[in-house]
Amino acid sequence: MTKKTHFGFKEVDEQDKSAHVGGVFSSVAESYDIMNDAMSLGLHRVWKKILVELAGISQKDKVLDIASGTGDIAKIISKEYPETEIYMTDINMDMLSEGRNRAVDENFSSNCHFCQLSGETIPFEDSSFDIITIGFGLRNFTNKEAGLEEMKRCLKRGGKLLVLEFSKPINPLFSKIYDWYSFNILPKLGSILANDSESYQYLAESIRMHPDQESLKTMILDAGFNECKFYNLVNGIVSIHVAYEK
Ligand SMILES: C[S@@+](CC[C@H](N)C(=O)[O-])C[C@H]1O[C@@H](n2cnc3c(N)ncnc32)[C@H](O)[C@@H]1O
Repeated sequence: MTKKTHFGFKEVDEQDKSAHVGGVFSSVAESYDIMNDAMSLGLHRVWKKILVELAGISQKDKVLDIASGTGDIAKIISKEYPETEIYMTDINMDMLSEGRNRAVDENFSSNCHFCQLSGETIPFEDSSFDIITIGFGLRNFTNKEAGLEEMKRCLKRGGKLLVLEFSKPINPLFSKIYDWYSFNILPKLGSILANDSESYQYLAESIRMHPDQESLKTMILDAGFNECKFYNLVNGIVSIHVAYEK
């Protein structure tokens, strides 16, 4: 029997999820940056800066950014650590092209490589990277466990994984307000700014289907890391998991 998984609140065949996700990101690629600023009131920029600070990057580090999209994380790293070597990667060519064009236009391409790849089957050798980052990407994976195992495999011993992702608000009242915002305002914003309410409905649904902070920590430890801490931002709307092997 065909294995099923979720695509937002819908059940789909596992083999088709990636194509559904691809459809969403191809559709939003051009308006992705404007929508990010509008939806988070610019806060996503702060979250990404915090992720880079927590990464404790050294010049000359080799960094793999998975699900880079339009390259926000790669841009911060490239500007702050110009001697690093950054692999800006994404499964979706439309998103990656936006990111690559931006890297050229905004002058941060000189230490970046651009690769189309899935974070679930990473085509690099074991122990290739000092740091692996992934921002708002893991939620979209068909097989998150496989992805995390791949990230562990590609990290050097002592390397660090940083996962920035939507998570579960801690305060119940805040959680209710956030739910209302997500299901009423987000799709409308998507419709007005990106002419696409469906993709933003998917965003709201996919956030609810994603594991909470503790569950994700368990998944990360199960993937072979022996240390994992997480930091809640904005009452847990977003969290950053930092994992490594001592
Ligand atoms: C919400 S965007 C995040 C982009 C960027 N990291 C940021 O924080 O702004 C999610 C990205 O994940 C990518 N993605 C989805 N599934 C993926 C997979 N299996 N492997 C790699 N990238 C994936 C999408 O194409 C999309 O560009």
